Amino acid sequence: MQEGDRHVRGAFYTPADVAASLVAATVERGPVVDPTCGAGVFLLAAGIGLAARGADPRGVATTQLFGADIDPVAVHLTRCALAGWAGIDPAEVGGVVEADPLLTGRSTWPTAPTAGFGAVVGNPPFLGQLRSGTAFDADRRRVLRDRFTDLVGAYTDAAWLFLALGMDLLAPGGRMSLIQPQSLLSARDAAAVRGRLLGWGRLDALWFDRSGVFAGRTDVCAPVVERAAFDGSEVRLLVDRHLEPAGTAAAPTGTGGWGGLVAALLGIPVVSPSVDGCVGDLARVTAGFRQHYYGLVDAVSEDADLAGGRPLVTTGLVDPLRCRWGSSPARFAGRRWSAPVVDPDAVAVGEVAAWLAERNRPKVLVAAQTRVVEAMVDDEGGSVPLTPLITVEPDPADLWHLAAVLASPPVSALAAVSSAGAGRSTGRIRLTARQVAALPLPADRSRWDDGAEAARAIHEAGVEAPAGEWRRLGEVMCGAYGVPTMPLLDWWWTAHPASRAINT
Ligand SMILES: C[S@@+](CC[C@H](N)C(=O)[O-])C[C@H]1O[C@@H](n2cnc3c(N)ncnc32)[C@H](O)[C@@H]1O
Repeated sequence: MQEGDRHVRGAFYTPADVAASLVAATVERGPVVDPTCGAGVFLLAAGIGLAARGADPRGVATTQLFGADIDPVAVHLTRCALAGWAGIDPAEVGGVVEADPLLTGRSTWPTAPTAGFGAVVGNPPFLGQLRSGTAFDADRRRVLRDRFTDLVGAYTDAAWLFLALGMDLLAPGGRMSLIQPQSLLSARDAAAVRGRLLGWGRLDALWFDRSGVFAGRTDVCAPVVERAAFDGSEVRLLVDRHLEPAGTAAAPTGTGGWGGLVAALLGIPVVSPSVDGCVGDLARVTAGFRQHYYGLVDAVSEDADLAGGRPLVTTGLVDPLRCRWGSSPARFAGRRWSAPVVDPDAVAVGEVAAWLAERNRPKVLVAAQTRVVEAMVDDEGGSVPLTPLITVEPDPADLWHLAAVLASPPVSALAAVSSAGAGRSTGRIRLTARQVAALPLPADRSRWDDGAEAARAIHEAGVEAPAGEWRRLGEVMCGAYGVPTMPLLDWWWTAHPASRAINT
């Protein structure tokens, strides 16, 4: 297969030992189906497992194993693998067919029992809709939207739809595990499929790989779901290449993210704060778009060359409660700047000009892709946030209170949990404007007032702010949220840019 074809079909085959471990954790009875069977590694492991329980391999290969693939070569390879194992002719492996089960559903396998399958296993293709050159073209998307309705959103990955298909294929009591990108755990557009899994079944276990099974490619996980009513039991956690047991976690409910399941595995403290409202109650939270980036390209100069310019703040210049504009170089529009400023007169008309004028107010700017939430305060209001910074604009009276919230350890821990699986590298917080707006406010107003004062003191001290002030802010805000300081404070401080600056 050409490399390009592999990408179009999402054809990255699973190592045999990983497939065998997942099958062992999932398959209790047949018949077994792999809706995207590739070369048949899951079906072969399932066949061996069923035969180990006393079934005759010939009967297993001819009546208990079902598969599909859009690639005829893959179908042939699977038939040969199963036939070789069972000692029969490949033509007798009638349950493995060339098809796209997302489109044909249960009718893909007319000889399968009408009650459904005892197990669904496999590794469906990971095909994000926005990735160019994938098979998710507009026509297909329309057909899939008709079939899967609300499960198809702007950023839906095809792999998630196979989970929904799998639930439909299972008989009552049947079990499923399909390898997924870790984004399943936290992506907004995966919420509907997470809800479907919990609505139709029970999450028995979650496999979470930190060992890089698909070296250099997407990080993966696999929910192990049983088509049965929720019985209150905890979710078993299995980790890394050998699916080692790693304890249990409370089962998620509703359509919220599943980051809480893996928080402990990622070393993120789990917090249950006492809260009263959310950031969005006190502030307008927005993120700029592409046009707000490109609309500034011809309007930026060095501060020394322009009187009356507004400081341009890039993501790289934002540290917790500190802006490094003018003291560290910035990158913008393909070049390095010492102290970039925007000339408002050069962006005088149109939507970008209106956006620029709107941003001329006291605000907090939040950076993306960081290990703790990094938010700086622009108390004078003049700075211009460069996309993808998130802008939080409260009533000026609440500015320092919101700064304290965003600088607090509990909020960083909550943001890390909600980002689990979404960051480009594990452990990075990746927040959208909507998620920032949803971050909770603390219930204890008097401690929060102290936190606001501490945040302002750190801001005013700038680079000189001593570690003790940061710790005090951390402790006060843990108190404001009613959560124990340890181990949260240590986790937060280890990842904090100020601790590195002070220790070096
Ligand atoms: C990630 S590979 C995994 C294959 C196999 N499950 C394994 O782990 O070895 C995905 C497979 O899905 C197939 N495929 C892609 N889109 C498909 C679709 N819509 N229906 C069925 N198979 C599909 C590809 O041809 C490829 O063989």
